[in-house]
Amino acid sequence: MLSFHQVVKQDFEAVNQTIIDQLHSDVDLVENIGHYIVDAGGKRLRPLLVLLMAKSFGYQGHQHIDLAAIIEFIHTATLLHDDVVDISSLRRGRATANAKWGNAPSVLVGDFLYSRAFQMMVAIQSMDIMAILSDTTNVISEGEVQQLVNAKNPEVDEQNYLGVIHKKTAALFEAACETGAVIAGASVEQRAQAKQYGYHIGMAFQLIDDALDYHGSAEELGKNVGDDLAEGKPTLPLIFAISNANKDDANIIKQAIAEGGLDKLDQIVSIVNNSGALEYVNAKAIEQANLAKEVLADLPSSEFKTAMIELADFSVQRSF
Ligand code: IPE
Ligand code: IPE
Ligand code: MG
Ligand code: MG
Repeated sequence: MLSFHQVVKQDFEAVNQTIIDQLHSDVDLVENIGHYIVDAGGKRLRPLLVLLMAKSFGYQGHQHIDLAAIIEFIHTATLLHDDVVDISSLRRGRATANAKWGNAPSVLVGDFLYSRAFQMMVAIQSMDIMAILSDTTNVISEGEVQQLVNAKNPEVDEQNYLGVIHKKTAALFEAACETGAVIAGASVEQRAQAKQYGYHIGMAFQLIDDALDYHGSAEELGKNVGDDLAEGKPTLPLIFAISNANKDDANIIKQAIAEGGLDKLDQIVSIVNNSGALEYVNAKAIEQANLAKEVLADLPSSEFKTAMIELADFSVQRSF
């Protein structure tokens, strides 16, 4: 548990219990794979945001627990699918489900988690929440498909990249924050602010994720570095380096994107480092985290608000 989980410790533990309880299935393989990825933990930032946002608006009920579990199920489903698409072999410090069981079971159990999330959502009986989460899952899929289309294309620019990370990652952070506000009965304006905070946190989070793919440690991250290059993903570290390195180096990166693979990883890492790309990406993430904090300014002071400010800093400073 990170320091900012402490202010909602009991609720957070209730969410973790709900996640376990809701993994039940008559089919053993579903439970085995479900438990395998869930028991490995993860930071649980999205469910935490649901709790913090609901509490910061004074929520006194219990539905935020289920809502937080729903958001984590959606996230977990995207991870099962994402690791198949990215052909990743390490997640949360363990072999990925696709490495252990194969692609088909991973995709299908991802579908199971998605649909379990929707079953739980119906029980909450809020059309607003249904609308937000059905739109969000649709947008996430679109983002992942756009990213697939972008793979191996060295012409992808920063604007296109920012659109992809908004859809594939920031959208779920937006939804976590907005639904947390909705369940607490926040006003339309407050809902919009909560969503805006989630947007900035999500953008900062994915910017750093993409930088860590070039300078992080697999041991700390619990996933392999270099996965993005292996798939020829034109993420911001590479997009920046193409525009700012000398012509020869830019061509090496373009070729590496077009071909994918890790043959030139060391060379690419050194070009990326020398181009100032990681500083650039870091500065963009700090900008987003600062915007996130600014959006919170209108909220009354509370320990929950303080935790959300800390979470903004963590999303930039994180090494895992
Ligand atoms: C991983 O998200 C997927 C991205 C959007 C980068 P997290 O880094 O939040 O994954 P866990 O849940 O902590 O493992
Ligand atoms: C994560 O993108 C996006 C989703 C899971 C929808 P990445 O592909 O960068 O995430 P990691 O690095 O595999 O966690
Ligand atoms: Mg991935
Ligand atoms: Mg990544």
